[in-house]
Amino acid sequence: MLHGRSVLLVIGGGIAAFKCLDLIRRLREQGARVVPVMTRAASEFVTPLSVSALAGEKVFQELFDLDDEAEMGHIQLSRAADLVIVAPATADLMAKMAQGIGGDLATTLLLATDKPVLIVPAMNVKMWEHPATQRNLETLQGDGIAVVGPDVGNMACGEVGPGRMAEVPTIIEAATDILRNGPLARRHILVTSGPTHEPIDPVRYIANRSSGAQGTAIAQALVALGARVSFVTGPASAPMPAGCDIIQVETAAEMMAAVQAALPADGAVFAAAVADWRVASASDRKIKKDGKGGLPVLEFAENPDILATVSQLEKGRPELVIGFAAETDTVIAHATAKLKRKGCDWIVANDVSPETGIMGGSENAVTVISADAADVWPRMSKDDVARKLAGKIAEVLGDG
Ligand code: C5P
Repeated sequence: MLHGRSVLLVIGGGIAAFKCLDLIRRLREQGARVVPVMTRAASEFVTPLSVSALAGEKVFQELFDLDDEAEMGHIQLSRAADLVIVAPATADLMAKMAQGIGGDLATTLLLATDKPVLIVPAMNVKMWEHPATQRNLETLQGDGIAVVGPDVGNMACGEVGPGRMAEVPTIIEAATDILRNGPLARRHILVTSGPTHEPIDPVRYIANRSSGAQGTAIAQALVALGARVSFVTGPASAPMPAGCDIIQVETAAEMMAAVQAALPADGAVFAAAVADWRVASASDRKIKKDGKGGLPVLEFAENPDILATVSQLEKGRPELVIGFAAETDTVIAHATAKLKRKGCDWIVANDVSPETGIMGGSENAVTVISADAADVWPRMSKDDVARKLAGKIAEVLGDG
């Protein structure tokens, strides 16, 4: 969700300013551009050089920097970002924001911006609890400003209570939530993807040819429509989708546990090629040749059917459950039977006979089967199948 987005980070003058270095790093890891602005007090706590080095950008500090002002710098700066984060938001900055005071670059930007603003308060407990700060907080929230934290705990000043700046992952989560928009913005969707690996012994396993490409593309298309996506994946060769919660697993049993842990969800797309069987008792040592030509015998046990289990949940079943049917013959008949057997809402059926080149390839030809229709889609790229499927999901789960 932060990928390709631009964050204007206003760093206030408090001891927690050092945490901004990590915040910048993590925002950039998520693919965001971070343009830093520091108040004069902030540069007493962290150096503009460190901030600039981590952001890979110039640090803006002065309102009357001629170069920038000649181009109406502060107005442009405040509008170019997708989101403004103020961290740490000191009592002083909050007071100025609540009063609409624009005496320096940071406060002027905050007045001029037309973008969402997220403040991350950090200050001494008494300052936070002071009626003036609480009044300002109420005013700011009334003005539509989002707030994350403060946390309760030990403070740098030796006191204990609310006032610690929120941790970086919490700030990133809050920022992601604000920037999420699209018809699925308030929806959580679970996607399984990739093959599973079922161990024979510590060095050998049973697998299948799934690349995870279709699952990755679906997760990506759902993120693009604003969904919060939990992506549970086996060892896939396709790149991981950006902007999802990624949970990596190996076996079907691990995938089942990860899916259960990721619920509740509004929708679930089971695109993983889960192994139907596992080796009943995988050896904990490498199986050796016996030297006499004897062959090992593997006994199999059935894996849990994740799609069927989730489809048939009595409590907490996602509103929309979608399965896949990779078949090599009589595709529609098999898929329709599967829809009933598993209890899901739609089955995305495809022909994976070797001659189609679909398994591991970049294209797919699918039929989307529901209780009352079989919708045949022409052959298209897996990305297009994903976008079309995400659009169809948004028709059911989206806000219109
Ligand atoms: O029964 P079959 O494996 O053909 O069903 C395919 C569908 O069921 C896919 O959506 C797959 O992700 C899901 N599945 C599952 N758990 C299993 C086997 C299949 O979720 N153990």
